[in-house]
Amino acid sequence: MEFAGVVVAAGSGSRAGAGAAKQWRTLGGRPVLRWSVEALLEAGAAEVVVVIPAGADAEAARALDGLVGWRTVAGGATRTASVQAGLAALQLDETAAVLIHDAARPLLTREVVDRLLTALGTSEAALPVLPVADSLKRDAGGMSGGAIEREGLVRAQTPQAFRLGALRGAYAAWPDDAAATDDVAVFEAAGGRVVLVPGDPALMKLTYPEDFAMAEALMTWETRMGLGLDAHRWGPGDTVWLCGVPISHDQTLMGHSDADAGLHALTDAILGAIGDGDIGDHFPPTDPQWKGARSDQFLVHAVERVRARGGRLVNVDVTLVCEQPRIKPHRAAMKARLAELLGLPLDAVSVKATTTEGMGFAGRQEGLAAQAIAAVALPVRAAG
Ligand code: CTP
Ligand code: MG
Repeated sequence: MEFAGVVVAAGSGSRAGAGAAKQWRTLGGRPVLRWSVEALLEAGAAEVVVVIPAGADAEAARALDGLVGWRTVAGGATRTASVQAGLAALQLDETAAVLIHDAARPLLTREVVDRLLTALGTSEAALPVLPVADSLKRDAGGMSGGAIEREGLVRAQTPQAFRLGALRGAYAAWPDDAAATDDVAVFEAAGGRVVLVPGDPALMKLTYPEDFAMAEALMTWETRMGLGLDAHRWGPGDTVWLCGVPISHDQTLMGHSDADAGLHALTDAILGAIGDGDIGDHFPPTDPQWKGARSDQFLVHAVERVRARGGRLVNVDVTLVCEQPRIKPHRAAMKARLAELLGLPLDAVSVKATTTEGMGFAGRQEGLAAQAIAAVALPVRAAG
């Protein structure tokens, strides 16, 4: 079925706390608005009209950068006025379907869109709802004012789905300047009938500051793995840096930076987990500014790249391969330093060591090797 989306994002987000309005803030590494526009486009929307505050075109362009099939119109003083502005801008046939959606409900899945479109095949309009699980009371000035019968009550979400012509007709009949709670209310006031379909708890509306953390918990996370390997040659010196810890030794590792093979392997593992190149791409060895550099900044940079994607590290495991120095006396310090750099608890950080029983370059003590693996959790748009 041909359908368009109208995403209303013209509110000021006054209840969500200080800072940018909630539709421009980041959730799981993406602007709140982007999640639902992307979901509607991926579900096959012919176009998505995004209703934004007048003058917010730059914010919208930033939030929706790279997506194809959306355009913006300026909203009004109420949600109702904003929806009307969006409807007026749609260019589809009157028989096409339209899904009106709050930008403040970012975690829209294809499953919900499909349910609504399927319902529209046999009904004039469709509304996603959730059951009410808690018992309901009236608040009589801080005192319980008695129970409200919960039987037969549901919680309404968006998107709300209609035939474009029928919804336009309902809005035309709606009194000017009256504010409706939602589009179904306008449609029903005009005598329209609306079928209920199951909503989705993840479609919660971001209203208060604490809702952001709850939405992150409801997001779908995928675990990524990354592998890193590094080796450096022994040379003259008296201190070797390994996993961010200086160790007195009769040699040092040679390299452009501090040659901390443990940190280098781990940095590559983390970059690998998010498909973000390798340490040399981010810190070219030809660049003089990294000469003699402490490698902990490379690791911290990789962790920042994960955070910029809305992701978080899960655990890391490093193995150092050398005959000398003995690693065991330094393991606790290495673990503690890595945990600090990575922002992980100690039990999510492992440092191990092995010899190669005299074989190979590490066995002949020509150099030291390190390998690392990292697991990263990244938020993804639910496939469902
Ligand atoms: N909305 C809109 N135009 C308005 C008011 C609201 O497009 N004049 C949109 C909001 O951007 C949001 C949705 O309608 O996506 C639901 O409204 P709400 O959650 O109340 O958002 P805000 O009005 O922005 O927040 P608040 O009421 O806390 O100020
Ligand atoms: Mg509001």
